[in-house]
Amino acid sequence: MAHFAKPAEGSWTEHYPELGTGPVSYEDSISKDHYELERRAIFARTWQNVGRVEQLPRPGSYFTKELAAAGTSVVVVRGTDGVVRAFHNICRHRGNKLVWNDYPREEVAGTCRQFTCKYHGWRYDLQGACTFVQQEDEFFDLDKGDYGLAPVQCEVWEGFIFVNPDPKNTVGLAEYLGDMGKELTGYPFGEMTQVYKYRAEVGSNWKLFIDAFAEFYHAPVLHAKQAVADESRKLQGVGFEALAYKLDGPHGMVSSWGGMSPPKDLDMVKPIERVLRSGLFGPWDRPAIDGLDPLPPGVNPARSKVWGVDSFVFFPNFMLLIWAPGWYLTYHYWPTSYNSHIFEGTLCFVPPANATERLRQELTAVTFKEYALQDGNTLEATQMMIESRAVAEFPLNDQEILLRQLHKTARDYVAAYQEDPERRPAPLRVAAS
Ligand code: FES
Ligand SMILES: [Fe+2]
Repeated sequence: MAHFAKPAEGSWTEHYPELGTGPVSYEDSISKDHYELERRAIFARTWQNVGRVEQLPRPGSYFTKELAAAGTSVVVVRGTDGVVRAFHNICRHRGNKLVWNDYPREEVAGTCRQFTCKYHGWRYDLQGACTFVQQEDEFFDLDKGDYGLAPVQCEVWEGFIFVNPDPKNTVGLAEYLGDMGKELTGYPFGEMTQVYKYRAEVGSNWKLFIDAFAEFYHAPVLHAKQAVADESRKLQGVGFEALAYKLDGPHGMVSSWGGMSPPKDLDMVKPIERVLRSGLFGPWDRPAIDGLDPLPPGVNPARSKVWGVDSFVFFPNFMLLIWAPGWYLTYHYWPTSYNSHIFEGTLCFVPPANATERLRQELTAVTFKEYALQDGNTLEATQMMIESRAVAEFPLNDQEILLRQLHKTARDYVAAYQEDPERRPAPLRVAAS
């Protein structure tokens, strides 16, 4: 018996007939060949979020991002004109990596007036133009104007900086993010500049960790020990149900209830949570800033009174979680091989006004870490066994609709690429019935 309304078809999954309801092959998560195709069909030609504008506060602020799956490293920089641009992180003279510090594989950030290559000293300004060539006379008809840094398409949506490594891409970022992006416009992301960040190397395919964060079916079981005892017992008895799911092209979202802030029964929370008025769902008291009331239409789309958190999956590798108490969380999954990826979890709050507010945020951040470690724990165990191919297909339930969509979308991108590597399909759309 459903507590929340489902579509007329009887399930969220059947509302999107193209998804099917049959068992799903996980060959896409264990095949080296499929991963090599994903690199070309997906990571070399879709928009990927690499950071926030707050990381580039003034002209000359820059950071680098390793895009292993796309096969490049980019440097993202704010120019003297204030515009944010991205370039392949390669020197035009003989290919040295341009921006790095002690270790060439590590990401770096900073502020500078120009970029100087460590090898022979060629220089580039903040707009990417080559401004200095050591012993220029020794070259043959060299025109510096022809040797600017190789640009990468770069656009900003609501303060999130995206790059698309495909020089032939013709789909703008706003079009790519579709209605799901449009309906989040106006959320006060820019006010939430207090950042707590985790990074981990995970021994699983990138899609498996998205799987783990895109369903709550596992929550009462996997997180049983840590969840508030009463909440967990309740969930194990009746199971989890979401308020709503929405699919929009390659992207999707799940809206969930969450009665934790503040919890109804204060005896049920840990003493430190009671004292600080904070926990996994964030500090219990919403910050007093504009933009949270009313929320943009994309947030809590069911307009439910018991709403707790929305999880958005922007294909391919960017998740955005917006929490009822007025903060947000992002997940990024950067593939490094068919069975490994780098995971980043970033919590963003309105800057604390005093030590108590800071402690509230810290408590949320460490609690999040414990949950994420539990989530991460099953991934290598899963990867190991699906690689055995002893079982090839897996039944996904209605709550696992976003997983069904993610794997189908990845397979569809690969299939379209195999059909015609030159064709750039419009963002693939999954139609509702
Ligand atoms: S490779 Fe950069 S100056 Fe020679
Ligand atoms: Fe979890």
